[in-house]
Amino acid sequence: HVSAVVLAGGTGTRMYPASSEQRPKQFLSFGDGPSLLTRTVERAREVADSVYVLTRPAYAGAVPDHAPDAEVLTEPAARDTGPALVYAAHEVRSREQEAGNDDTVMLCLPSDHHVEGDFASVAERACEVAADTGALVTLGVEPDRPAVGYGYIKPGEDHGDYHTAAGFFEKPDPGVAERYRYNGFLWNAGMFAWTPDAFLDEARRGQLEQLVKGVEAGNAESAFRLAESVSVDYAVLEDARNVTVVPATFGWDDLGAWDALVRVFADAADDDGNVVLGDALTMDTENCVVAAGEGQHVSAVGVSDLTVAAYDGNVLVVPTREAQRVREVVSRLREE
Ligand code: GDD
Ligand code: MG
Repeated sequence: HVSAVVLAGGTGTRMYPASSEQRPKQFLSFGDGPSLLTRTVERAREVADSVYVLTRPAYAGAVPDHAPDAEVLTEPAARDTGPALVYAAHEVRSREQEAGNDDTVMLCLPSDHHVEGDFASVAERACEVAADTGALVTLGVEPDRPAVGYGYIKPGEDHGDYHTAAGFFEKPDPGVAERYRYNGFLWNAGMFAWTPDAFLDEARRGQLEQLVKGVEAGNAESAFRLAESVSVDYAVLEDARNVTVVPATFGWDDLGAWDALVRVFADAADDDGNVVLGDALTMDTENCVVAAGEGQHVSAVGVSDLTVAAYDGNVLVVPTREAQRVREVVSRLREE
């Protein structure tokens, strides 16, 4: 039995100004078609028997618009993915047990990914490995650049179609990322398969110990109030004893920052390599991302390699290769 847990409680800081706290990335579509969240839930249904969407209180009301048939799990307070997944593991285990499923595997899927190709068979295999071995199963992507926004997995012992992970390292510095790539490490795709028991056992050993105790004792509200924000990668995976990695052989990208659009929409770019979203005009412009939200119009003239984005009267201009720095912009704006 597979329970998909779609993670949909982040804000998508680096996609400012398209995303904001009021309109987080997972509710946006980028281009035509359904939102990222809707698409993730559709993918989850290919593999899972039950589908849960896990989110923070402020977004719970909007989830049914994007995932009408999914069960909504609302963590008591936004504390990043570590605490959120502890809450989910506890809830999924008890709800599934009530429904007579004692052996459910959680398939955790972020809602900010672009996926192409055969996702379902890889995800099914990851769930089988999780059920058979009791490991925390990650999906590993072959890196093509020294990205700093990802976790890196050192493959260990070979078990045929999966490896034991000999190490997990979240968001390394650029020099370190280059070395990891050179040494055959894989990117953590951010998708996981594990049984609730295996995950809670590992979480209990680290900085989430008090939170796990509180949640299991029925005091989730107060345990969350006291908990610090930390992602599951730092809080659990870096120190977990039993982690394995299944190769993610499908096309994959994280729509983390604007530079991802250049890769994801490569086929839809115009003859000058511009990715244009919404109502925008380009002249003598090359390799730019030009994005206009509803009611906005953007013109770009005589420029190259820039991202220009206007949403709700907020305008961003950044060299696309520095798109990760939008995080700094948003923290400055929050201070003001
Ligand atoms: N419920 C809930 N609550 N979901 C959250 C929260 C929260 O507080 N914070 C973030 N999320 C959701 C986001 O909406 C997203 O779908 C997913 O969790 C992952 O969060 P990101 O913030 O996008 O993480 P990341 O991209 O920086 O890093 C993770 O993913 C990378 C691959 O995409 C890590 O797992 C990396 O190791 C990995 O390489
Ligand atoms: Mg992400």
